[in-house]
Amino acid sequence: MSREDTFHPFARVLHWLMAIAILAMLFIGAGMVSTLSTKHTWLLAIHKPLGITIFVLALIRLGFRLTHPAPPLPADLPVWQKLAAHGSHVMLYALMIAMPLIGWGMLSAGDYPVTLGAGIRLPQILPANPALFAWLREAHRYLAWLFFLTFLAHMGAALMHGLIRRDGVLRSMTGGRQLD
Ligand code: HEM
Repeated sequence: MSREDTFHPFARVLHWLMAIAILAMLFIGAGMVSTLSTKHTWLLAIHKPLGITIFVLALIRLGFRLTHPAPPLPADLPVWQKLAAHGSHVMLYALMIAMPLIGWGMLSAGDYPVTLGAGIRLPQILPANPALFAWLREAHRYLAWLFFLTFLAHMGAALMHGLIRRDGVLRSMTGGRQLD
């Protein structure tokens, strides 16, 4: 595989780190809202700083992606699959940025402190407004589902490339290991 056929090592490291962090966040979020015990408090204490870390990494990753184009998809890939790949990637970037911002905005609108631990407190990004809080709370929930479904579709497509088509697309992100 030539250098142009694989993602830059920095992009690959960010991709796998963020995949783990986002999957963890989806499960932490779902676990958090399904308990009223003290677990809620400590899950939320992980959820907020990890979510803000994902936000910062997503901005770095977007900047890197815009300046370092992805390897081209195989020429024989059907047009609808190329469009689906492009659309799902745009959706994943949008969600990586929107979800943390909505979480942060939701807490601000609910007039809750946005604390990250170690004495770090973020500013409120929205005015206190109970109706806005309720709306953002619902948006955070429905977008989490959309995030999970897009994540699953993305994983399914990666496995299709790696196990069925064996066309090098999965290898472009694993860095050349013989998975396809
Ligand atoms: C990639 C980033 C994020 C993901 C994937 C994510 C995911 C989730 C999920 C799955 C839930 C449960 C939704 C439900 O079923 O109701 C949730 C709830 C919540 N999230 Fe996030 N979240 C992210 C970022 C953030 C950030 C940055 C904050 C705040 C700074 C935040 C604050 C909250 C709060 C306050 C709740 C509700 C807790 C409760 O009602 O007990 N989230 N999140």
